[in-house]
Amino acid sequence: MAERNLDFDKVHNRRGTDSLKYDFAAERGLPKDVLPLWVADMDFQTSSYIQDAIVAQAEHGIYGYTETKRDYYEAVIGWMKRHHDWDITGYKIIKTPGVVPAIGAALDAFTEKGDAVLIQQPVYYCFNEVIELSGRRVVSNDLVLGYSDRYAAAYDEGQAAEAAGDNKFPRYYIDFEDFEKKIVKEKIKLFLLCNPHNPGGRIWDKEELKKIAEICKKHNVIVFSDEIHQDIVYSRYKHNVFADISEEAAEFTVTATSPGKTFNISGLQIGNIIIKNRELAKRFKDSVNGIMGYSQANAPGIAACRAAYTKGDEWYEAMKKYIEANLEYLIDFLKREIPKVSLIIPQATYLVFLDLRALGLSAEERKELIIKKAGLWLDSGDIFGPLGEGFERINIACPRSTLTEALTRLRDAINE
Ligand SMILES: Cc1ncc(COP(=O)(O)O)c(C=O)c1O
Repeated sequence: MAERNLDFDKVHNRRGTDSLKYDFAAERGLPKDVLPLWVADMDFQTSSYIQDAIVAQAEHGIYGYTETKRDYYEAVIGWMKRHHDWDITGYKIIKTPGVVPAIGAALDAFTEKGDAVLIQQPVYYCFNEVIELSGRRVVSNDLVLGYSDRYAAAYDEGQAAEAAGDNKFPRYYIDFEDFEKKIVKEKIKLFLLCNPHNPGGRIWDKEELKKIAEICKKHNVIVFSDEIHQDIVYSRYKHNVFADISEEAAEFTVTATSPGKTFNISGLQIGNIIIKNRELAKRFKDSVNGIMGYSQANAPGIAACRAAYTKGDEWYEAMKKYIEANLEYLIDFLKREIPKVSLIIPQATYLVFLDLRALGLSAEERKELIIKKAGLWLDSGDIFGPLGEGFERINIACPRSTLTEALTRLRDAINE
């Protein structure tokens, strides 16, 4: 049977489906009818192969304890090889109910209460939350933003510039001196790398990853590489798996992957944590079993992951193309219609960090503009860390008509 769910223009009504994105505005103190482009899931139906696998399971009517066999692991191994040229044969693949729970397990496995844990802000806000809630301390090696007010030109120029090895993009970069200093000063044991980076959409290049590996090796730092966004990469870029940067890096790295973002199945809560080093894998698995008391994954999650990684390629490629066209549309719209709003052009992820600082608004005024005047629900930049102040993260994994509606509302609210 062929893939059926390739109409990404189709608007699906998600209201009344217990959708976190659509159904909880009032609970969060927002007007009920705001247009939501915040949390990182897509407004697209997933691959019909995944749907069919879940329907087949649902029809069976027995949802007892479920485990995985060889075919499941072969599906994960096959996906990593096919899409990332990463050979994980012989590596441990540990299932978790997603990536955030895996962060909790890694904190338990590799750090003690009171320890400092290194992250790079602005970054996915659950990093701080889990660190703080687990009684550890957040230490940030703040990212450095290289600006260009000629963002549209930079988009074109940047391709050529990047080919020449010249980084002229307005993007986030790592301050390596500060990175090493913080590791030493704070006695860091664990670094949470967001690779690719959310909300900056950055694909860390091989040189950067090698430098991270070199410093972490020197100071015995374990790297938890959150690669949940590894598959959603724009056409002229390639994701670099951190653990695959060198034989050495693989030995001190825990790589968190999931079909959740890639196939829009986050609600099925399935993550595959990939670890080469046997001792690290044992410590991590003991924490998964110990602090979460977790051993078997949920049945639909297993069925969905296997279907996604074996039969989902056509849907996946089409979805990426659609999102890339949305990104181009967004860049063009801003340039033509809202020149005061700039953006950090992502190399990966369907999340785009919009730069509203040129509007000269206070945090309160910006909130008023986005929520009250434009009727939009975006993610306010400051939740990613203080450096995110003045930015808003928009999720472009939606039908073009939804994106057009959102951008039109934003333009009209700004021009009001
Ligand atoms: C970097 C990053 N890690 C993890 C997650 C969530 O992972 P999960 O739903 O598997 O817990 C997200 C979701 O937005 C994310 O952006």
